[in-house]
Amino acid sequence: MQKIVIRGGARLEGEVRVSGSKNAALPILASSLLAAGRSIYKNVPGLGDVRTMGKLLARLGATYEEKPAGTAYVDTTNIVEHEAPYELVKTMRASVLVLGPLLARHGRARVSLPGGCAIGARPIDQHLKGLAAMGARIDLEHGYVNARARRLRGATIVFDVVTVTGTENLMMAAALAKGRTALENAAREPEVEELARVLNKMGAKIRGAGTSMITIDGVDELAPIEHSVIPDRIEAGTLLVAAAITRGNVLLRDCLPEHLDAIIAKLRAAGAEVVADGDGIRVRGKADFKPTDISTQPYPGFPTDMQAQFMVLMTRARGQSVLSETIFENRYMHVPELQRMGADIVVEGRTAIVRGPTKLAGTTVMATDLRASASLVLAGLIAEGKTDILRIYHLDRGYDRLDRKLRALGADVRRAKGSV
Ligand code: EPU
Repeated sequence: MQKIVIRGGARLEGEVRVSGSKNAALPILASSLLAAGRSIYKNVPGLGDVRTMGKLLARLGATYEEKPAGTAYVDTTNIVEHEAPYELVKTMRASVLVLGPLLARHGRARVSLPGGCAIGARPIDQHLKGLAAMGARIDLEHGYVNARARRLRGATIVFDVVTVTGTENLMMAAALAKGRTALENAAREPEVEELARVLNKMGAKIRGAGTSMITIDGVDELAPIEHSVIPDRIEAGTLLVAAAITRGNVLLRDCLPEHLDAIIAKLRAAGAEVVADGDGIRVRGKADFKPTDISTQPYPGFPTDMQAQFMVLMTRARGQSVLSETIFENRYMHVPELQRMGADIVVEGRTAIVRGPTKLAGTTVMATDLRASASLVLAGLIAEGKTDILRIYHLDRGYDRLDRKLRALGADVRRAKGSV
């Protein structure tokens, strides 16, 4: 198993290109199941979760090919299976995104229940409630969801909690339903808007994506398309923090600043210089920062997927910063590892209090989930001495060669054989 070895202290400088969005690419790939034929997706990030989705599509009978890197060809002419098995769902919860499309186009779907994961319980009751309201017969048996429907019919669905993949699953199911579906209290994430753009290109009739009220008029058929995936706002945010904390001067290219408002606002509040213009986003860091409080919220609020990375910046701030994680109940798995590196962090329930500035010292740390591993990489960049990060398959699930990008900006980062 590989590990990442970082020697801290380098200042990041130069330009870096942001890859395609993981959380946009996954539902888009799943949406290919709604049409028969060959779709072509560009700007697809090279990462573990995308490969897992490719495997799942292949298992359902699609042909999936990624060649050249960044371009995915999916042919869904012969979908022969309708099951997302446990071994794939357990490695990637987003596998549940095939539920809506399979049910809508093939009348049946069998998807393993995801169960809990490192960051929280993460149930899918809202996905199931919506599909049932659209007329699906849903049975839970032996750890699987069995869903059947002749043809789904439009319904008004009010989400009890704002759910990103829940909104996406129901939007895909409703695209082929009979009649009108209204999704209220829908997620407003740019990835939801992007999926609506893709579905509309395929022939769907969706309005309001990007707001909390989405209306879908079902159509009889959708067609395959060619589409280029939007840039990854969380990768962009991670790179912005990396530049800021290393006192760097970095220009991010191929990113959409309008998706990063909350992140940029907090970086500025902490004292980093961030300028977004036609060329991209330039960030200039400094030696110490101001304390900043953060509460994670659904979009357009501050994303939970940036909480762990921001915590590293908070260790650099003079004073006390308070972070509240409101989306997931167990998303502080990086804290004990950051504490081992010397950070002063106290967790009380869903709140973390970070006191700074503290000097971080390199040591061996273990990645526990995707964003936690990104925070350990960031900590390694500013730590004194050498940091060895084990279990970096978590990082590779969701970042397209982050280590290479950081190295190109001047960081001393390499991969080596790891022991765990
Ligand atoms: N929830 C329910 N019932 C449901 C669905 C969700 O109670 O049926 C709860 C969850 O337990 C959680 C909250 O609602 O407390 C929000 O969860 P959501 O469903 O929005 O999360 P998700 O769709 O499973 C996506 C991203 C996550 C990101 C969250 C929140 C994808 C593939 N995943 O997950 O990304 O953290 O939205 O923004 O889009 C990551 O990239 O590292 C990652 C975890």
